Amino acid sequence: MARPQRSYVCQSCGSTHNKWSGKCEGCGEWNTVVEEIMADSPPKGLGRMKGRVIEFHPLSGTSEKKPRRTSGIEEFDRVTGGGLVAGSALLIGGDPGIGKSTILLQATARLAKDAKCAYISGEEAIDQVRMRAARLGLADAPVELAAATNVRDIIHTLEKESYDVLVIDSIQTMYLDNLDSAPGTVAQVRACAQELIRTAKRRGTCVFLVGHVTKEGQIAGPRVLEHMVDTVLYFEGDRGHTFRILRAVKNRFGPTDEIGVFEMGEDGLQEVKNPSALFLSQRQQEISGSAVFAGMEGTRPVLVEVQALVAPSPLGTPRRAVIGWDQSRLSMVLAVLEARCGIAIGPNDVYLSVAGGLRVTEPAADLAVAAALASSLTGVPVPSDMVIFGEVGLSGEIRNVGQADNRLKEASKLGFKGAMIPDLNGKKTPGGKDMRLMQVKHLKDILPLFTEDN
Ligand code: TYD
Ligand code: MG
Repeated sequence: MARPQRSYVCQSCGSTHNKWSGKCEGCGEWNTVVEEIMADSPPKGLGRMKGRVIEFHPLSGTSEKKPRRTSGIEEFDRVTGGGLVAGSALLIGGDPGIGKSTILLQATARLAKDAKCAYISGEEAIDQVRMRAARLGLADAPVELAAATNVRDIIHTLEKESYDVLVIDSIQTMYLDNLDSAPGTVAQVRACAQELIRTAKRRGTCVFLVGHVTKEGQIAGPRVLEHMVDTVLYFEGDRGHTFRILRAVKNRFGPTDEIGVFEMGEDGLQEVKNPSALFLSQRQQEISGSAVFAGMEGTRPVLVEVQALVAPSPLGTPRRAVIGWDQSRLSMVLAVLEARCGIAIGPNDVYLSVAGGLRVTEPAADLAVAAALASSLTGVPVPSDMVIFGEVGLSGEIRNVGQADNRLKEASKLGFKGAMIPDLNGKKTPGGKDMRLMQVKHLKDILPLFTEDN
């Protein structure tokens, strides 16, 4: 008998290796490579059999516009691109305990008002899910609940009954009985997802797959599933904070970078309609090292406080610590401040934090970070009614960023009276018409704000 073929598969990124190694060459993660037995070898060429000729269509044809199903939870609907499309597959990734099961239970309970919804839990017993539903006040919602992990049974059920929305919580607990690998391995996760998605697409069911990501990469990360689904949502948040952010990182049916903001409370996840007010709620006025960044998250402006602390270091190599922003971006802003503006940061420790636990990815935050750093170093506060945005280039020039109007409008709505922004070259911004605009061309131009006699 031929020996079964073995291969070594990274459980985080799915790349295969010839031999085991401690570190995956593909994604750089440690301890993620696991031996798996391949079911059968890949086909060797096509052989003599001929296929059929495929048909081509013009781009300009008319296609039916698919109706969308909305849950009524606005923050959730926005992230899905305005509602769920029939036959689409969505992946919700996130750390264990962040609230994936909670949000999906809340969403399906709302969707169940006019759609047939099924919730299949592979992690929790029926009683546990019922208890959660009771706690959330959703016990009366007509969601059909099941505890199952065998994909063959699930698919058989889907063939018999048609559902509009199906939740699989989580894909790592599901298994196909004709594969040898254990549930949670890349081979199982990939095969189960493929079967479920294929059936769901054919039956017009919208399927949610829940996927845990662990730092250790012991469970097959949902990254291997990202290309198989239509929409990838990540549920982010800091265990230390109560709010959670649902972020669309891929969406075939809507814009990406949209976020939905929720707050985890006693009775589940509540929508946060005005995230800026929440992120700024604990801000102290007139302290040095703090700047308000007017950012954009998808189509929505969000104001957040950026805090910096520059303090003399007892260490030979000063520390640079960042929370909520990119470490290398901070190094760049520090280098520009030193080299182009003559500010000596040298032997100081630098700490930077985006207050509230939000992760900012926009380069437009550069100028706010630079202002917070300059303010901490000089001890002079940034005016408390000023918002800041702008990208910093390597020669110290301040570059324009998109959606200046929307950012300024949001700031004005929240009572801000001033804004430090890139030079508009004489262009008008209706958004900032009631505000003092400080237009800066070069990073050096912000320094007069931080002299003692200002
Ligand atoms: P859960 O949805 O089970 O997380 P996941 O499915 O991503 O693993 O969320 C569990 C956490 O949320 C748990 O730590 C308790 C907390 N929680 C609340 O604080 N309030 C609530 O009403 C609920 C249902 C959960
Ligand atoms: Mg869960």
